[in-house]
Amino acid sequence: MNFKLVTNSPALTETACVVLPVMQEGSLTFSGQALDKATESLVSQIIDRGDFKAKLGKTFLLAFAPGAGAQRILLVGMGKEDQLTDAKFRKASQAAYDHLAQLSLHDCLIALADTPLKNRDSSWKLRLLAEVAETSFYRFTEFKSQGSQDELPAELSFHWPENQDSSEGEKALQAGQAIGQGKNLARTLGNRPGNICTPVHLAETALELTGKDSAFTTSILDEEQMAELGMHSLLSVGKGSAQPSRLIVVEYKGSKNPDDKPHVLLGKGITFDTGGISLKPGEGMDEMKFDMCGAASVLGTLEAVRQIKPKINLVFMIAAAENMPSSTASKPGDIYTTLSGKTVEVLNTDAEGRLVLCDALTYAERYNPASVVDIATLTGACIIALGHQATGLLSNDDDLAAALLKAGQKAEDRAWQLPLWEEFQEQLDSNFADMQNIGGRPAGTITAACFLSRFAEKFRWAHLDIAGTAWHSGKQKGATGRPVGLLVQYLLDLETLGDQSSEETDSEQ
Ligand code: BES
Ligand code: MN
Ligand code: ZN
Repeated sequence: MNFKLVTNSPALTETACVVLPVMQEGSLTFSGQALDKATESLVSQIIDRGDFKAKLGKTFLLAFAPGAGAQRILLVGMGKEDQLTDAKFRKASQAAYDHLAQLSLHDCLIALADTPLKNRDSSWKLRLLAEVAETSFYRFTEFKSQGSQDELPAELSFHWPENQDSSEGEKALQAGQAIGQGKNLARTLGNRPGNICTPVHLAETALELTGKDSAFTTSILDEEQMAELGMHSLLSVGKGSAQPSRLIVVEYKGSKNPDDKPHVLLGKGITFDTGGISLKPGEGMDEMKFDMCGAASVLGTLEAVRQIKPKINLVFMIAAAENMPSSTASKPGDIYTTLSGKTVEVLNTDAEGRLVLCDALTYAERYNPASVVDIATLTGACIIALGHQATGLLSNDDDLAAALLKAGQKAEDRAWQLPLWEEFQEQLDSNFADMQNIGGRPAGTITAACFLSRFAEKFRWAHLDIAGTAWHSGKQKGATGRPVGLLVQYLLDLETLGDQSSEETDSEQ
């Protein structure tokens, strides 16, 4: 699908369909009024007659539009103007795209960027419109022999107000596309089945994404290299599997100063979690192919970074393994020495995410990171605590936690913080090793984070538990692409912060 910016009046632009916002009070935007005039008040008559009430997310198609450049007009209800929020604007645009997907049109013009939305400029709205276009028209058909049943538009034009800087518009369009495509990549990787999406597949994907771009350096550690280093905790998880484990590391240098400390994103990449010898019940086990959604979100964010090129240094890491039961699998009670030297008693082989992440966290020390954020489908307990709306957030640094919460708010991809108090740590006391890998039923999400925190003592660190937010179950089963929105916003905010502090030091000089 091709995206482009159009500054001509939407009243005159030739297109198969123009999409126009209508407020519930009946008012039209500036371009809406022009279109209404061109069509001899066709639009306002429909509204005055009460045929279209413009409730939030409702759409109405005028199949003919004599006088307009467009062959059709799709009206989109925005609800009450003074109650319009980012989330409602997103919902309305999503509804418009869903309607367009059913129309089998070659090209459409989206004239929603001048919708009155409090505190948001045209750039913000255009970025969101481009992002939502990407995610709305996403179809996962890799394994459908007939492909997609929908005839989606080949070209989408976005109206940009003539009196505004069109390079700003181009930038917003690009950023929105980058974020949308990043989310979609995360969904695709999540949706791919475990027999295709293996640890090696994740490594190949990272190599493909970064291969031709000199801003990136990718290294893949195989089992031998990890054993050499002493990553016995990570390796213990894949011991029962025919699929070899991998540690994927992608360095990105975007900052003017290549020695600027990097921010690290680390994803849990369990490409299938059977539970191992502590086998999970059979029902719904297919959903454990989504246990690599943390890794998928890291690669999705990498895709967006590849396109946006923020001026910061980053390291993307993925700890990838398949958790299977077999005669070579690790058993409850087995003890392993981690890369840090600390020993772990594996009381439950189904608490494997923390076992792969802890060694990757220790490995991250070598980058002397400015911060480390791990993203993991870590605990079923997080679904009980926060349901499917909020990602769990735990951190050893309140400023980092605040930055992630804020990014989640902005991107409508919200997280909620849980406490990481010292008192919870004793639940991990082991009789035989330095710690055990489970903390019992109470506060399961917190004790999992407590485990990780023991390997993150040397840097600012936050953990995102996405067990409840990474995919939908039931009829709409599929990966959501969360928390790519949060992560990209977090990185863009870091870039702005960096700009500000370097300006400060510039002016001090
Ligand atoms: N991948 C699961 C967590 C999970 C379960 C995410 C269901 C989403 C839906 C993780 O590896 C796991 O099995 N965790 C155990 C930990 C327990 C053994 C302490 C859990 O949550 O039951
Ligand atoms: Mn598990
Ligand atoms: Zn798991």
